Amino acid sequence: MSKSVADHVVRDRLWERHMLLARHGATAANGVNRQALSAAEIAARRELIGWGADLGLKPYSDAAGNFFLRLEGRDPAAAPVLSGSHIDSQPTGGKFDGVYGVLAALEAVQAICDSGQTPVRPIEIVAWMNEEGSRFAPGMMGSAVYAGDMALGDILPVRDAEGITVAQGLADMAHAFPDVPQRALGRPVAAYVEAHIEQGPVLEQKGFSIGVVTGIQGKRTFRVSVSGEDAHAGTAALRERKDALLAATAMIQALSAAMHDDEDIVKFTVGRLEIKPNAPSVVAGHALFSIDLRHPLESRLRELGDRVTDICTANAGPCAVEVDELVTAWPLEFPAAMQDEVRGAAQRLSLRSMDLPSAAGHDSRYLHGVCPAAMIFVPCKDGISHNEAESATPEDLCDGARVLAETLMALAGR
Ligand code: GLV
Ligand code: MN
Ligand code: MN
Repeated sequence: MSKSVADHVVRDRLWERHMLLARHGATAANGVNRQALSAAEIAARRELIGWGADLGLKPYSDAAGNFFLRLEGRDPAAAPVLSGSHIDSQPTGGKFDGVYGVLAALEAVQAICDSGQTPVRPIEIVAWMNEEGSRFAPGMMGSAVYAGDMALGDILPVRDAEGITVAQGLADMAHAFPDVPQRALGRPVAAYVEAHIEQGPVLEQKGFSIGVVTGIQGKRTFRVSVSGEDAHAGTAALRERKDALLAATAMIQALSAAMHDDEDIVKFTVGRLEIKPNAPSVVAGHALFSIDLRHPLESRLRELGDRVTDICTANAGPCAVEVDELVTAWPLEFPAAMQDEVRGAAQRLSLRSMDLPSAAGHDSRYLHGVCPAAMIFVPCKDGISHNEAESATPEDLCDGARVLAETLMALAGR
């Protein structure tokens, strides 16, 4: 029997590349801090370009800073199959979130090359710009702009905590790679497949190495800006204070109570709180906090999210409050035929798979809007993610890359 493309996936090479990429932005606690468009991300892209060059893959980028490595197909004019994820990370991120999707796609393409076959369609490995939304909010800017869900002009002026704009970050990236051509945004895509660690405990607990992702739960994010007045901590009368920190914490407590859910399906998170001037003896004149709200049902997400502004206003006390909704992303289901592609590939390789929804967000949310999309999950240790302790096994990563190789070969063959 002839070898399938999956048989050319090399577990140790895939693992080694995770360890090598993790040097770019490595933290003291064995994690990764690789912010979008940073020097660390530039270094990581340089490494990817080198690995791609060994296979004859051509790098290119676009105006939103997305990064591609293209394997030419027998029909170069055909729309490509895309596969990847992101290589930016959270500040205390791990070695696998996002990176796995890009390296699994590279491994799958290398396996296809090593099998001696050339797919009909080109296959492009992609690292989307700023998936995490950590340096620049909101996340998934690159894939959202690619899919036409956000305008380029909306992301360019967004600033990081130091005041540096996305436009400047994109210029830094372009400057680092003068030989990488830029192509038009929104080029047609035949299909998109994203491999990712599950970031939850289900696959590990149930003993499956492959998850066929059925869809992604909905998410709404908000930025709440509270304005009070700076005042002297020793002299300002309590009744005259406009303490933005006290107002913000009252809002957060009230929101948290309103969003409480005994069944633990509603996910409400305030992950960022900034105050100004942030000095021990000054009443805080400004507070800014983030809200990340998720639910698998559109009706519930709609109802809860629609209460945010009223709850903030009711708890503002003497301060002024402004609520901006940054992302409104309703729950989605991937096409059944694309789920079948992944399930079928796992079956052909005799790998146990189970269907499960994604509780985390992914770039495939936006690609789903422009082409048939699918996701492949592999287990991660104890479901831990967005944490330096994030961990996965070489075997599970390899199984996922094998399924990806089969799936890409099938999709790029028609
Ligand atoms: C993606 O990183 C998410 O926050 O769901
Ligand atoms: Mn991710
Ligand atoms: Mn993430």
